Parts: sequence; structure tokens; C-alpha cells
Amino acid sequence: MALSASSTLTFDVRVDERDLRAALERDARAGLGGVQKSLPPTWFYDEAGSRLFEEITALPEYYPTRAERALLERHAAAIAGYARSDTLVELGAGSCEKTRLLLDALAAGGGLRRYVPFDVSATFLKASARELSAEYRGLHVHAVVGDFLRDLDALPSGGRRLVAFLGGTIGNLVPAQRRRFFAALRTNLGPSDHLLLGADLVKEVPRILAAYDDAAGVTARFNRNVLAVVNRELGADFVPERFEHVVRWNARGQWIEMRLRSERNQLVHVDALGLTVPFARDEELLTEISAKFTPDGVRAELVRAGFVVDRQWGADAGEFLLTLARPGPRR
Ligand code: SAH
Ligand code: TRP
Repeated sequence: MALSASSTLTFDVRVDERDLRAALERDARAGLGGVQKSLPPTWFYDEAGSRLFEEITALPEYYPTRAERALLERHAAAIAGYARSDTLVELGAGSCEKTRLLLDALAAGGGLRRYVPFDVSATFLKASARELSAEYRGLHVHAVVGDFLRDLDALPSGGRRLVAFLGGTIGNLVPAQRRRFFAALRTNLGPSDHLLLGADLVKEVPRILAAYDDAAGVTARFNRNVLAVVNRELGADFVPERFEHVVRWNARGQWIEMRLRSERNQLVHVDALGLTVPFARDEELLTEISAKFTPDGVRAELVRAGFVVDRQWGADAGEFLLTLARPGPRR
């Protein structure tokens, strides 16, 4: 069916500013109060952070975006052929930059009706949703501001849905979170839905390290931006320049760790929490992991969560992996 002439644009806000602030307060209290200090990566993506991430995706060292885009360029038609979806849902959509490749392929099949970008970062989401709705005549854009670790039940139902989770964002979840996420997603998908998962592959460690520690220092700025977010939202007094961007390969977990290392002994006050946080010289704050996968590893995790894998692209010595899966029989 061809797209009808009129597009619609709707916004569904599942987490508002107040929820976000409450969640940030919880995360900051737990993460800064503990022995191994940490902050979860959800908080990187305020407006400045989302912009810095866009810059990262264009860096010479940051191969994942280019590798994933190349796979989508080559295989979007095949993906659309398997899924025959009328709805594209995109989790952690960000700027929706690679989305057009999937939308075009689905539209070429004639069945595309709806696009559901889902992201916790409202500003960027709104701008991208508006752009796409103007660009694709007849497409219903239903943007959801939500947390994909919590609000998957907010996905609009009906039709045949292709849920895309791209950019290797799956690797930013720790293994237990990943398991819960896949299980929740399986529960929320019906027999005619599909999942398209983008995951970064294990490769030579120096290559991975460089992707998270670029020469121009953009990733370092991105990493420190989380401190600016805590300053602004929770009235903290982090001096970002007093923290050094550190990247380390964790061989046991097969993931990159992004850390901020305190350059000196210092006290940080978090007004909104009534909290004083001591940092010893060289003490590190863990801000992000980015796990790297093998094709079989991805397959095994999906199967364990109750999915059937249709196909993988990029599995033969590729840099990045796309996996198309669908819900298997209920067990
Ligand atoms: N898919 C894009 C963007 C990846 S960056 C790409 O491939 O380039 C990760 C995106 O996930 C950001 O836009 C961030 O705001 C969003 N995100 C991070 N944690 C989230 C969460 N818990 N729930 C919803 N969105 C989240
Ligand atoms: N999902 C992206 C990744 O793991 C996010 C990312 C890229 C990132 N560079 C970063 C997160 C630097 C934190 C710091 O590749």
C-alpha cells in the first residue's frame, strides 16, 4: 500500500523532566556514594552530549557508525523483505541518521505506515521526529520519550513491527541489564514482529581503544559532559578539567570501560543530594562500558531470551554485526 498523502506527528512522553531528575538523583546517590564510583551512561545525552555524540560518529577512529551504515546500505532491502513491516520502531534513535535507509527499504516494499523513534533524550528526539515527518509524506511518526530499560510496554501495538536497536547501544548495558532487556523485549513482541540488532564485534584491541580515545579529544569531552549534566541538574560543583578521560579494555568482560580519573585529591559537593563526595588522586569514576560481541555470542543471548535468529550480516570477518531475529515459540 502506498503512503497516504497526509503525515501525522505525535509525541508520547513516558518520562518527563521530573522523572528524569528523580532517576538521576537515584543514580548519582548510588553511584557517587559507593566504593567503586560510577554513573550510568543514560545521562550523557543532554543536548550538548547528543551533539558531541554526533561528532563522534564522524571521527576517523570511530568505525562503528560507518560499518553499520555500510551494512544497512547493502542489506536494508533484504531486511525489509524478511520483516515486511508496516511499523519501524527505533530504540535509542538519537538523530535517526541511519533510519532513512530502513525507512526507504520498507517504503519500497509498499507497506510502511508508521515510524516510532524511542529515546530518553527529548530534545534531539523531537527535532529528528519533525524532520522525518516532513521528509516522508504520509508517514505517521509517533515519537516516544521513554527509557528502554523500563518503558517497553509503551511501544504502540498493532501491525507488523520491526524494532531496530542500532549503534551498538546494546553494548552499553551490563550483562544482567542486557538479559533483562532482551527478555522484556521478547515479552512485548508478537508473532509478526522482528528485532534488528546492531552490535559491535570483537576485534584487535588497539583499534577498539582508538575508537573511544580519538586524537581530537571529542570522546574525552563527551565523557566529561556527564559531569556538566550532574552540575546543572543536581547543583554539583565538579570541575570537569580536573578529571582525565581514561579508556581501558576489560578482557574478562570483553568490553571497553570509559572512566574519569581524578587528577588530585578533591571534594565534590552535590547540593541537591546534600552529599559531599571525596575523590582521591587517581581515583576513577566509571561512566560507561561498551561491550564487543561475537556473532555466536549475540545469537546465544537472543535464543536464551526466546528469539529465533533469521539472519546475521557482517559475521564473516566484518567489523560490525546486524542480526535479524523474531520471537520464537513461547516456552
Ligand atoms: N541509534 C543512534 C544513536 C546511538 S547513541 C546511532 O546509532 O547513532 C544512544 C542513544 O540512546 C542516545 O540517543 C540516548 O539518548 C539513547 N539512550 C540511552 N539510554 C537510553 C535509555 N535507557 N532509554 C532510551 N534511550 C536511551
Ligand atoms: N553506543 C556507543 C558505543 O558504545 C556510544 C558511545 C560511543 C560512547 N562513544 C562513546 C559512550 C564514548 C560513551 C563514551 O560505541
